[in-house]
Amino acid sequence: METNDITQRDSFTGRIGIIAAVAGSAVGLGNIWKFPYITGVYGGGAFVLVYLICIAIIGLPVMLSEFTIGRKAQRNAVGSFKKLAPGKPWFLTGVMGIAAAFMILAFYGVVAGWTLEYLGKAVINSFAGKNPADLEGMFGGFISQVIRPIFWQFIFMGLTCWIVLAGIKGGIEKASKILMPVLLLIIVILDIRAITLPGAGEGLSFLFKPDFSKLSAEGVLSALGHAFFSLSLGMGTLITYSSYMGKNENLGSMAIQCTVADTGIALLAGVAIFPAVFAFGIEPGAGPGLVFITLPNVFQQMPGGYIFSLLFFLLLAVAALTSSISILEVVVAYFSEELKIARRNATIMATIAITIVGIPCSLSMGAMSKVQFLGKTFFDWLDYIAANILLPIGGLLIVAFVGWYLGYDKTKEEITNSGKLKAAYLPLFLFLAKFIAPLVIAIVFLHGLGLF
Ligand code: TRP
Repeated sequence: METNDITQRDSFTGRIGIIAAVAGSAVGLGNIWKFPYITGVYGGGAFVLVYLICIAIIGLPVMLSEFTIGRKAQRNAVGSFKKLAPGKPWFLTGVMGIAAAFMILAFYGVVAGWTLEYLGKAVINSFAGKNPADLEGMFGGFISQVIRPIFWQFIFMGLTCWIVLAGIKGGIEKASKILMPVLLLIIVILDIRAITLPGAGEGLSFLFKPDFSKLSAEGVLSALGHAFFSLSLGMGTLITYSSYMGKNENLGSMAIQCTVADTGIALLAGVAIFPAVFAFGIEPGAGPGLVFITLPNVFQQMPGGYIFSLLFFLLLAVAALTSSISILEVVVAYFSEELKIARRNATIMATIAITIVGIPCSLSMGAMSKVQFLGKTFFDWLDYIAANILLPIGGLLIVAFVGWYLGYDKTKEEITNSGKLKAAYLPLFLFLAKFIAPLVIAIVFLHGLGLF
């Protein structure tokens, strides 16, 4: 029987392990699949600029708030609030996070399954000799099938479940420590190839030159939602992870490092993709297939393209895995610590339930693509509700909890490791946490939903 005693809980072994695990959670399909695809849908540079502003003034304070809450309480996403604010309704923030985790992992597992299919395609060299139209047809043909994408989704969810069962130390750390730097290297090589393609300049200006006439209210809300999604914020993932951190870590510098790494990788992925999108005449707003259609074109235009395609999809799948385990961990820590379900059973039950919800997400790309509500499929709705509604509300409650409920003294105590560290940024952090972040989230949120 597991107890809530700190000494009984699993914990990370050392500094690199923690940074690798948090960065492994943050860096995933959000950076390489979702960021480029929604940047294309919402018109490019202006969206990117708003996204970066959201990261700096909202994402960073929310991340530091999650670290503060989790490490102070040493509990899961719900238990942390119960411990720090006994008898108060703050724990509902965590409950909402559990719901968000369910939804996100449901569609995340589907897209991660696509990366496995594409890894298979890379192995048998199926991109060779195909033109952009062929590659578009290849993607459309694959995701609209019934069985194949669901098969890969099951495999991916099985892998996620298996790693979570293996525990924090064994699973999470080992995978992220070695492989994420290699993924970064491959993306940089892809960048070099992409920006030297004829016509690349147009892609770079699409990505970096803001044209505010293309930016809608929904675009701004999506930029905010994606800041949360990409940094793994707003649902207690980082509360859960930081609950395993030691009391001598520097939370502030860790938040900055992880934020910079995550944002850098997203931008580098954008630089690999948009020049190629324009060079090959692909529609920037092509949607969720953008990366899967564009990059195979790039692989064909580079020496060693076969090896690069293989490594890229392999590492993308690994990046997805280090993120998906962090999402599942939120649910499992809650089930096992709060509901006292044995960890093993909790892991298996949660995986099965989430995978089932993922099935209609997968079918949204084909058999159920006509089943729409207000122009969005089941897949779109899960993504929209989780990323654009639940995460921003969760993020708002998390910063407000630290800014207003914990307050100056307790926050200072935690962030300075009981006075051992200097934290000159503390007044700025609390100002953002109390006023700016909640206000901006509320305005963007209401405006994006058309209520303001
Ligand atoms: N951040 C991950 C990505 O970019 C996905 C993810 C992991 C996530 N944990 C999360 C998203 C928690 C939101 C909340 O791919």
